[in-house]
Amino acid sequence: MTEKRTSIHGQWSSRMVFILAATGSAVGLGNIWKFPYMAGENGGGAFVLVYLVCILLIGVPIMMAEILLGRRGRQSPINTMSALAQEAGASPRWAWLGWIGVVAGFLIMSFYSVIAGWALAYVLKAMSGDFVGFTGDSSAAAFVGHIGNPGITTFWHTLFSVMTGYVVARGVKSGLEKAVRILMPALFVLLVLLLGYAINTGYFDRGVAFLFDPDFGKLSREGVLSALGHAFFTLSLGMGAIMVYGSYMPGKASIATTTFTIAFMDTLVALVAGMAIFPIVFANGLEPGAGPGLVFISLPIAFGQMPGGLLFGTLFFVLLTFAAWTSAISIIEPAVAFLVENRGLSRRRATAVVVGLAWALGLLTVMSFGGWGFTFEFAGAQKTDGIFDILDIVTTNFMLPLGGLAIALFAGWVMSSKDTAEELGSGETGLYHVWRVLVRFVAPAGVLLFFLHSLGTF
Ligand code: PFF
Repeated sequence: MTEKRTSIHGQWSSRMVFILAATGSAVGLGNIWKFPYMAGENGGGAFVLVYLVCILLIGVPIMMAEILLGRRGRQSPINTMSALAQEAGASPRWAWLGWIGVVAGFLIMSFYSVIAGWALAYVLKAMSGDFVGFTGDSSAAAFVGHIGNPGITTFWHTLFSVMTGYVVARGVKSGLEKAVRILMPALFVLLVLLLGYAINTGYFDRGVAFLFDPDFGKLSREGVLSALGHAFFTLSLGMGAIMVYGSYMPGKASIATTTFTIAFMDTLVALVAGMAIFPIVFANGLEPGAGPGLVFISLPIAFGQMPGGLLFGTLFFVLLTFAAWTSAISIIEPAVAFLVENRGLSRRRATAVVVGLAWALGLLTVMSFGGWGFTFEFAGAQKTDGIFDILDIVTTNFMLPLGGLAIALFAGWVMSSKDTAEELGSGETGLYHVWRVLVRFVAPAGVLLFFLHSLGTF
């Protein structure tokens, strides 16, 4: 038995709070903004099916591994990995996994905050009644006008960065726990309301068929890799965010049950968002493959038409902002925890450094939509948003799956089965063995196959 560690950053007050915080991290722009447009760009059903398989066979076991490592190490991912490697008699180079996660966190935060800034700006637009009378064309024109103005998008990006920094600087417990408790259920209720609207558009069947009828002819090599990458992105896996949250988890809580709860809620939100959005897309003659603007163009049309749309529209973008907020704090937490542990910075200083750097990097995404966009080809798909697309592909399609692969290998092959069984609290039961096979063989092989496929090997 190793000595039980404690985290210097504090601990969640209960298992329930850990679930809320981790769900807050998982459910974000990835579910409501990204999932629908990726499904749309990749032809729908087949993409969704591959994504669901990835969640279940690769995402869930790796999430359990990531929480387990965090809770056992009880430090920032970099220090956790070196402590656990030492404990297992393995190379100290495993700390690199933590470093790659920190870099991925900066890159993701840089564009995440810009998109969350769009959501913030849309709160104001919804409130001022801008959506009233929107058609497909006028909504698209308003969106393009908005993101094409770097001065304005920088303003909202800055505001969102400051909001994120404010919460992270205050520490693990204050504020955030309470917000997540109320806001996540509210977001879900609002999505269900939108779903009700979508059902009445007359295009519900078509939307559902688009999402769930698999047509593999429509799925490109790039689409397959994106489905894998998105499974990691949406569950916040592969870069230490869930690991660092796990390091604040109370000792006794069951990792398996919590993981299933988080993955289930995350998937549910994405699917409900998809089912709400595609009927509106089809009813208004919009293009499902419209890209990052899909949600920002389709939903305002609905809000502009429905009774009470002013209120619901405002509420929706407020809640979307909150979903993004509770995710953003987890994206930068690994880097902040590291600076506090190893550089002796106060939490506030550390947060200011991390947010400042990510903010500056974010200007590249602002400009990708504000005039610097360029087109390139990736794995047979046409990309039009320049640096934003590059940042997204490098992090989501490569860094997160590779980070997840390393996490699986470490938990499955480097750590002893005695240690992992002890940490999972399961004993070496049947379910434990299922997890171990998934994490040792299925998840790593899955990630490698996806990479080979996207390279065109088969
Ligand atoms: N899971 C978040 C979302 O779906 O919006 C994004 C995210 C959070 C990615 C934390 C990575 C991460 F570490």
